[in-house]
Amino acid sequence: MQSITVIGAGQMGAGIAQVSAHAGMKVLLADRTVEIAENAKTGIAKQLNRLVEKEKISSSDANAALDKIIPISNYDSIGDCDMIIEAATEREEIKRVIFEDVGKKMHDNAILASNTSSIPITRLAQSSPDASRFIGVHFFNPVPIMGLIEIIRGLATSDDTVARVTAYGEALGKQLVFSQDAPGFIVNRILMPMLNEACFALGEGVASIRDIDTAVQLGLNHPMGPLTLADFVGLDTCLEITNVLFTTTGDPKFRPAPILQKYVEAGWYGRKSGRGFYDYSGDTPVPTR
Ligand code: CAA
Ligand code: NAD
Repeated sequence: MQSITVIGAGQMGAGIAQVSAHAGMKVLLADRTVEIAENAKTGIAKQLNRLVEKEKISSSDANAALDKIIPISNYDSIGDCDMIIEAATEREEIKRVIFEDVGKKMHDNAILASNTSSIPITRLAQSSPDASRFIGVHFFNPVPIMGLIEIIRGLATSDDTVARVTAYGEALGKQLVFSQDAPGFIVNRILMPMLNEACFALGEGVASIRDIDTAVQLGLNHPMGPLTLADFVGLDTCLEITNVLFTTTGDPKFRPAPILQKYVEAGWYGRKSGRGFYDYSGDTPVPTR
């Protein structure tokens, strides 16, 4: 891949843009407004500077990567890109509109990929111009640190599309795993029930936020407790994924915890909104109950 477009300049889109530019690709970074995409580029500059300070990369490499990222807000200039990766909000109706708009501007051999955490790839492909060039490319948060990409092929995804996306993932130095287009793919099918169960435990008064997190972090040697991780992923995203697991399987084991729904209704989305199970307004996160 020489050049890609990343759509959605949130925590995932910014990370995907950063690692792709660092691997030498030109990256058009799109969001609803060019200001959002520019702010994301400023955030990427800070991340790259941190890597320079830690002497993990040279400042000329950091500058070269940053120069390759071009913030945009419409798709007029995406015609030369080899791949478009959608990393917008985890809502099917938002993604479908993006695929329809992008489909009119991308070139007729380009790949359209989604970083969706859970929405079926075969279903999303119906809004793309060619289901054989549509695929799931699922990164993990934070993208520059996490070593995995899940590749999900829809029913119509071609071998050529899988091969080109595999080459892209390898160029980023990530380990690839291949999943069927099944609810939650591999990781979220396993992770989300754990995070959701932590929410049930909290809602039922089993223990405090701090003790649920400490129990899992120290008792299972996880880098973060489940409520901290849910805040890190985004409670809105956790709820959307859990709802997809629940509705696509019909299995009650995936029903979302009431407290998770309540927090999302309150606009408490976690770290990105400043408040979730923890309050992030101070120097260190403080449990909210
Ligand atoms: N972006 C980039 N780098 C980051 C970062 C971020 N947001 N947060 C931390 N880092 C880097 C730090 O700079 C540090 O780098 P060095 O080792 O080079 O110094 C390194 O990560 C470790 O950071 P810290 O020492 O500050 O903190 P930590 O040891 O607690 O690690 C963490 C932070 C890597 C995020 C770690 O807590 C962790 O691995 N947490 C679990 C993350 C996880 O499970 N992610 C998957 C979520 S699920 C998903 O992504 C799929 C989905 O669809 C929802
Ligand atoms: P986020 O809330 O941080 O960012 C979403 C971005 O999409 C925002 O900047 C928003 O302005 C933008 N957006 C919304 N509608 C748009 C539109 N019509 N056109 C262009 N941009 C639009 O969310 P995120 O955590 O970066 O998640 C993005 C995607 O990545 C979701 O599908 C999510 O499920 C998936 N994902 C998230 C994680 C995670 O841990 N957060 C991990 C893997 C995959």
